[in-house]
Amino acid sequence: MSGFSAEWLGLREPADHRARNREIASALSARLAQREAVSIVDIGCGAASNLKATALLLPDRQTWRLVDYDANLLTAARERLMDWADASKSEDAQLVLEKDGKHIDVTFHQFDLNADLEGALGEHPDLVTSAAFFDLTSVAFMQRFAAAVVARKAAFYTVLTYNGRQRWSPHHPSDNAIVAAFHRHQMRDKGFGSAAGPTSALELGEQFRLHGYSVLEGDSPWDLGPSDAALIAELQAGHAAAVAETGAVDAKTLERWVGLKRTGAIIGHTDTLALPG
Ligand SMILES: C[S@@+](CC[C@H](N)C(=O)[O-])C[C@H]1O[C@@H](n2cnc3c(N)ncnc32)[C@H](O)[C@@H]1O
Repeated sequence: MSGFSAEWLGLREPADHRARNREIASALSARLAQREAVSIVDIGCGAASNLKATALLLPDRQTWRLVDYDANLLTAARERLMDWADASKSEDAQLVLEKDGKHIDVTFHQFDLNADLEGALGEHPDLVTSAAFFDLTSVAFMQRFAAAVVARKAAFYTVLTYNGRQRWSPHHPSDNAIVAAFHRHQMRDKGFGSAAGPTSALELGEQFRLHGYSVLEGDSPWDLGPSDAALIAELQAGHAAAVAETGAVDAKTLERWVGLKRTGAIIGHTDTLALPG
């Protein structure tokens, strides 16, 4: 178990897909458009939300390798892809999907990315991708990761890396203290050493630039309003739980904060595309 439930990932999926930066997505699409087929690795795939959004940007024949260390999420990924596809069939360990004229072969792999990054990436992906993943990782992991992607001469596309920007509506004076404590929690070890948290998008771009890759970055904020009430409530509860673990905000303030009625929230993310020269 990773601590990310399939229910939580399902709840955030519409906001995630809406938030993706369209210019970065178009640049990825243009880069790979001439190919007949592409092979893709999705790291920290969860319940396959990233495949569902990214497949539509890519050529008609695709081979996906989905990697996560959580077996329950890999099972959820298989089920959700079968629901999403126009047609699907299982061939041994492989899932074969048809969606909007695209032929998509998918395999599922359980790896701890920190323990066996090389095994997780496999040998010859054209594209390494991920969503809502890199803020969990450390600078040391990003260094190793960038070197491993560069060694494969692969393109890299990641979306929805939390970038530290938050604005709750209506604003409450305790928001600043809560966000500061939340960031302290974000920088705790999430399995990769001290996490880069809100600075991870900056660090990630830098690692690829050091290897001579061209890096494009763009904002992909969640812009949540009254129709996202369930997601806002979960977000508030999640923040409160994380902040409580830090002990940086007193219990009474925290209790009041989690009970505040919010009509909206902006949560900043960054999308990154890194391409070999
Ligand atoms: C925030 S979730 C994002 C899931 C999915 N990419 C999405 O957009 O819905 C982070 C994912 O990273 C996975 N993960 C975290 N640490 C990992 C590790 N060390 N090895 C493999 N997967 C990991 C979790 O299991 C989870 O599925």
